[in-house]
Amino acid sequence: MSPDDIVILKRAPMRYFPAFFNFANRPVFVVGDGELAARKIRLLAKASPLINIFSVSEGSLVEQEFGADYVCFRRDLRKADLEFHPGLIFIAVEDEKILKDAVALAKRARIPVNVVDRPELCDFVVPSIIERGDVAIGISTGGAAPVLSRRLREKIESLLPARLGELVSFVKDRRPRIADRIALRDRRGFYERLLSSPISEAVLDGDMKSAEAGFEAALDADTPLPGSIHIVGAGPGDPELLTLKALRVMQEADVVLFDNLVSDAVLDLVRRDAERVYVGKRRADHSMSQSEIGERMISLAKEGKRVVRLKGGDPFIFGRGGEELDQIKAAGLAANVVPGITAATGCASSASVPLTHRGVSQAVSFVTAYAGEGGAPDIDWQALARLRHTLVVYMGVSRAGEVSANMIAGGRAASTPVAVIEKGTTDEQRILKTTLSAMPGDMLAANITGPAVLIIGEVADFADGAGLIQLSQQTELAA
Ligand SMILES: C[S@@+](CC[C@H](N)C(=O)[O-])C[C@H]1O[C@@H](n2cnc3c(N)ncnc32)[C@H](O)[C@@H]1O
Repeated sequence: MSPDDIVILKRAPMRYFPAFFNFANRPVFVVGDGELAARKIRLLAKASPLINIFSVSEGSLVEQEFGADYVCFRRDLRKADLEFHPGLIFIAVEDEKILKDAVALAKRARIPVNVVDRPELCDFVVPSIIERGDVAIGISTGGAAPVLSRRLREKIESLLPARLGELVSFVKDRRPRIADRIALRDRRGFYERLLSSPISEAVLDGDMKSAEAGFEAALDADTPLPGSIHIVGAGPGDPELLTLKALRVMQEADVVLFDNLVSDAVLDLVRRDAERVYVGKRRADHSMSQSEIGERMISLAKEGKRVVRLKGGDPFIFGRGGEELDQIKAAGLAANVVPGITAATGCASSASVPLTHRGVSQAVSFVTAYAGEGGAPDIDWQALARLRHTLVVYMGVSRAGEVSANMIAGGRAASTPVAVIEKGTTDEQRILKTTLSAMPGDMLAANITGPAVLIIGEVADFADGAGLIQLSQQTELAA
């Protein structure tokens, strides 16, 4: 039967079929000695110990880089070479005659060929590759849009933990013991729980000692593997300000407990099937008390769930993350804390305000104007006023009058610039530029309801960006 005799009975929706080759005992051929050939060889070298390279000129880039490890022929590909049954042939030469001859030889011998930048001559395409140890992911647009493949690869790369390969090896090395100890009918469940347990998390964090100890305990005891708890900083609102780790654990979560500071755009990135639990925490709307939130997390983790506690900004900056961590530890469980971008830095960047600036401000303090049900916090405003550096006040909307009066009484000039940034980094961001004495009135006039930070200090003069309340408008409002 010749290729002309092939009759197509049914159209297939995929143009290329993805497959993973084993080149351990089979050579791969590359024709060419320029940079494009070198790139292919570097890639192939990850999977193939036997690479034969043809059309290599003396002293070429390819010969210098690969001559010691692979066979380089200073001649073109010949029919007799194909008797070594190469698995694949890659052609990356500019000379059209050498290229065409090599393609013809490969096609006649029915060896799949890939010609760099010539999709019409290719039997197969090379996907964009992501590799983490034994984990390999190939992405292809069938040669139609390689740039898109690369972009997709970057996106997926950012979601995969850097130590994923280590996790695969960890599990692979323990398969025999798991097979020995866990009955076949329970094995799949065991793997599922293992991969979402703190044991796996420890491997991903590079903490092999804890992982090892956790694994031994899990094998010994017939108790279910524990779940995990992550206290995660969700940043000030813009989902692009999440850390890669935050995104990963959000996408692996079984349950997410979040409060009102977490933006919808961030919540949209939580795994679709995860249970979402609103735990309130607006000042007037404590839908769950602090200790109830802790208890809920603990009981969910004990059921084997992957729990994510999503908190606005950074969990350890005016976020009560420390209390939650204490409660979890007191219950004998571990929790991982994933930092987030705090409102001060997120809002300052979004409003072009450098919190420190050479010659203007050499230090910055973050303070809260609200200390929970107890009322005003124990803050030495006089001392802060004397420091003459940048002060970022959290939870200060309803206490702007006190903040202003205290700072001025402490000696800070009434004319000190202030930037009030409301709903910073979100589409609803507003920036109010004012002064320390005018701040309370201007905030009322501009109807600032928060969440907002008050940036007090000379650097506030730099405030600019989306949502800037214009000066004329501001004067009008203040009048
Ligand atoms: C309970 S504190 C939580 C702070 C949070 N842990 C952090 O690191 O940003 C809440 C205060 O953070 C500030 N805040 C949080 N998100 C904000 C945003 N997007 N824009 C302005 N201020 C914000 C406000 O001052 C708000 O009253």
